[in-house]
Amino acid sequence: MKNKSSRLSGFHRLSMRTRQKEIAQFAKDASIAPLLDGGLSDELCDRFVENAIGRFALPLGVATNFLINGQEYVVPMAVEEPSVIAAASNAARMVRASGGFIATLPRSNTVAQIELRNATQSLLTLKGEIPEIIRMANDTQPQLVQLGGGVVDVVLRENVGGPARHVVHLVVNCLDAMGANMVNTMAEAVAPFLAMRCGATPGLKILSNLADQRLVRAECRVAFLHLKRNGFGGEDVAKGVAAASAFAEADPWRAATHNKGIFNGIDPVLVATGNDWRAVEAGGHAFAVQEGQYKPLATWHIEDTHLIGKLEMPMAVGIVGGASKAHPAAAKCLEIMGIESAAELAVVVASAGLASNLAALSALSTEGIQAGHMRLHSRRV
Ligand code: MEV
Repeated sequence: MKNKSSRLSGFHRLSMRTRQKEIAQFAKDASIAPLLDGGLSDELCDRFVENAIGRFALPLGVATNFLINGQEYVVPMAVEEPSVIAAASNAARMVRASGGFIATLPRSNTVAQIELRNATQSLLTLKGEIPEIIRMANDTQPQLVQLGGGVVDVVLRENVGGPARHVVHLVVNCLDAMGANMVNTMAEAVAPFLAMRCGATPGLKILSNLADQRLVRAECRVAFLHLKRNGFGGEDVAKGVAAASAFAEADPWRAATHNKGIFNGIDPVLVATGNDWRAVEAGGHAFAVQEGQYKPLATWHIEDTHLIGKLEMPMAVGIVGGASKAHPAAAKCLEIMGIESAAELAVVVASAGLASNLAALSALSTEGIQAGHMRLHSRRV
């Protein structure tokens, strides 16, 4: 399936019916029925949320042209903003001409925090208890452990914000799950033991969305010749993008908008695959400001005759648990992409983010954003 080219030239000119037929060929059973009506029955709505009264629809499109780690992807995106999907597809076309995106997610570790208040003992008393803490936490998730996941580390942090608070981190390999429920259960299971051992009152027990042990990295090297656009030479576009990146590195006001452009690519894929986009947003923004000043999540520079883009950010996504499997449309979107692991989804999401960033910066540093944006926007109004 991933050998079928995602370079669907002229796709935007087809009727919606014809596009549906083309995309059905990317799905294993050639049926994309759940995508045509949103996929949620009344009964499912009632199971997903409380007080359900209906459904809220968003347009679902596909970004074409994505070549990531040598694999072809059409990327489903659920989004209300015109030009986001066109921009991502355009940038992906430029990147694929230079070899595509290279991306990795080396670790799928989620951190659960256990807060201990007013401890009478040092956290060092827990050092010898670490194997027992791991056993207690892992006992709550036998299936995860059986599949090779579970607690990989326990971190003891003393005096967090003052002597009245210690914090213990359980670092959990969540494999293909985003893992919030699993790690929260683990944290609640070990908290009474930790509190008892250090004479503390247990405080909060919850994951951290600053998923800095779940960092995705995506890169692309685009030859100048593939960057030319609307009367602007490729080298000029590359220089403009690099200068825009420098602006975002220097200025948090610009970095916020730069990162918004990255999330233009990320959030629609998270929505379409049933992932918790608020968690990824929270993680991304917390990561962006970790060194004291709010920074861009992706940066661009020039090497010889190439523009190099690099994105690094937390990417806590899953393909099991949560809505990914339970929501028929989300499951179908994963199937269209042929996603087999959370790590694979993370690299696709990150590449969509980097593509959106390239599209925005190359438009901003040439003809400006409004020409293309307003043309597409005017169709809606
Ligand atoms: C608009 O949705 C996104 C941009 O503002 C991003 C950017 O400025 O880099 C165009």
